[in-house]
Amino acid sequence: NEILNKKKDLQDKTIIITAGPTREPIDPVRFISNHSTGKMGYAIAEKAAERGAKVYLISGPTALKAPKGVRLISVNSAKDMQRRIMEHFDEAQIIIKSAAVADYAPAVAHDQKIKKKDENLTIELVKNPDILYELGKIKGDKILVGFAMETQNLIENAKEKVLKKNLDFIVANDLFTEGAGFATDTNIVKIIDRGGNIESVPKMSKHQLADLILDRVMYLQQLGEV
Ligand code: CTP
Ligand code: CA
Repeated sequence: NEILNKKKDLQDKTIIITAGPTREPIDPVRFISNHSTGKMGYAIAEKAAERGAKVYLISGPTALKAPKGVRLISVNSAKDMQRRIMEHFDEAQIIIKSAAVADYAPAVAHDQKIKKKDENLTIELVKNPDILYELGKIKGDKILVGFAMETQNLIENAKEKVLKKNLDFIVANDLFTEGAGFATDTNIVKIIDRGGNIESVPKMSKHQLADLILDRVMYLQQLGEV
């Protein structure tokens, strides 16, 4: 039975999935973050677990519940996220990075609440580690998948990211397209591989898209095993 077989096709795989935003502390009560809800990453985690994988879901703060059968690891900052990924890196054959990692963090996280004083307040930001880029350097024969949300030049930017971060493919979506983006239950994406091939995926639910992404991952895994 094909449907039953498909369900368990990730049985002997360990997958790391990152999801949600990161939070970069300014002081004990404030942070810098973004609009990521984690829906896409949680959908992938849910489907991967259903299909039999051992799933580490490394997630920034979201309002979502851990999907059934998934090992949820909650993190805050990009640096936390990177550290927790590395704890499970050796064990995983597949890494899917759907988290919206903050590119910059405050240079200092103040111990005490910053008090209101002058008319202007400047917070110095410093670049966070590019987790995916660092993973790309050590990926070996693991499958590495990135996400990109763009507001312009989607294809061009996404193609560049695949090569620069040494990914197998990237799932790119345009924030300004209706039915795509952060808080929606659907997505419209382009999947772009290392060869620059573009698959235009029609609008579908994030759960359907999760299955499709896992199908593409399994296809590549099987190619690698031949
Ligand atoms: N990413 C990451 N670490 C960062 C920034 C991004 O691992 N510090 C990952 C994201 O999880 C995503 C991919 O890189 O899978 C692309 O993220 P994106 O923000 O689109 O790309 P950037 O390289 O940060 O470039 P920019 O924001 O300038 O477009
Ligand atoms: Ca970014």
